[in-house]
Amino acid sequence: MDDNEFAVIEKDNIRFFDEELNIICKKYETVNLSNFNTTKNGYDNFMLKEIFEQPKAVINTINNYISSENQGVELSQFQPNISTNSSSTIVSPSSIYNKQFYFSNFNLSQDDLNNIKQIYIVACGTAMHAGLAGKNIIEKLCKIPTFIEIASEFRYRDPIINENTLCIFISQSGETADTIAALKLAKEKGSKTIALTNVFGSSITREAHFSFYTYAGPEIAVASTKAYTCQVSLICCFAIYMAEILESTNCNVLEELKKDLFDLPTKIKEVLQKQEEIKNIAKQCYLQKDLFFLGRGIDYAVSLEGSLKLKEISYIHSEAYAAGELKHGPIALIEAGVYVVGILTDDKLTLKTISNLQEVISRGAKTFVITNSKLPNNTFDFIFTVPKTNSFLTPILSVIPLQLFAYYIAKEKGLDVDKPRNLAKSVTVE
Ligand code: G6P
Repeated sequence: MDDNEFAVIEKDNIRFFDEELNIICKKYETVNLSNFNTTKNGYDNFMLKEIFEQPKAVINTINNYISSENQGVELSQFQPNISTNSSSTIVSPSSIYNKQFYFSNFNLSQDDLNNIKQIYIVACGTAMHAGLAGKNIIEKLCKIPTFIEIASEFRYRDPIINENTLCIFISQSGETADTIAALKLAKEKGSKTIALTNVFGSSITREAHFSFYTYAGPEIAVASTKAYTCQVSLICCFAIYMAEILESTNCNVLEELKKDLFDLPTKIKEVLQKQEEIKNIAKQCYLQKDLFFLGRGIDYAVSLEGSLKLKEISYIHSEAYAAGELKHGPIALIEAGVYVVGILTDDKLTLKTISNLQEVISRGAKTFVITNSKLPNNTFDFIFTVPKTNSFLTPILSVIPLQLFAYYIAKEKGLDVDKPRNLAKSVTVE
């Protein structure tokens, strides 16, 4: 249904009305929910199940955009919506999976892309954090300045955008009120808009000029996990697509990145196989009142997501800081026994972050480090190693121990992991 429409649902009949209560005809289809597995499938909680679904969710998403045979980005996947006005076409998931959804005679042209002078990525919560990882990829591959905005701020701050701006709106549910309002504003100002969502036919897809989907399957736990890793994977596919058209990055770099995308599921599985390590760390710090997350560059973006996950489901107060900011305030909060989580996946920045971590260690903090390098064993209390991958893709691997960390802390505390207090999965109000 579109905004301001009503329905009366009876056992054998549905009637639709406009806002003046005139009867309207709607085209509707039956959505085959049996296509999706919405049970816990033997897991204690949906969140754990969804964390473990990530290898499959990520490869499903990538496979829809990059052909694994020749590893060329399939342009046909980046197509406009059937309709950009709010017509009543409801697209069922089955037709999307059959790829009947896309036009075959329309592409974003090289001219269109050449005219884009700036990109905004607008979202809320975890989706916004995925955008932070996406900014890094888009800027480096496409050489277009890219800005991340919180939707609830963007919609009220009269942003300077025009027809040379591309706005990407990320929303797992496709129903977040602030994100949809921000999209409408961007459209009014003449920007091209893309909705990046996990839900076919969701409200955001009816508003945007283009819709790209993650193929994560339904995400039921309030704390978002597989949606994040799929969103980062999809932005990466889109950045490769744009970079190929713009010829803004050396082909070899793009080919390497495509190959590394296809290697992700195996590497995600490697991380998941070590869940017991995370469980043991969680057992030692679940009674903490405050936790800090530190990282530089892309690791800072992942720190924000790790901190959000922990707050959402364990109710432990936590803050994420760009490690270089430590000395500008947060270090005043460090005292003996406080836990600090450090994320170190960027070789160029590792020594800098280690030096920040040494500052907290010298003040008695306990440290838990997530890294893809070999670090000295005796410096930190806990080290969790993730496999090496392409530098654009590290957030997809380093976020997983943080998801498990939040999960096992909440479990130790005996909390309702899937339905944390005061939170909603889909925030359809301001
Ligand atoms: C809520 C959820 C978060 C989610 C955010 C944005 O706050 O609890 O997990 O990241 O909304 O949701 P969206 O559906 O727009 O990605």
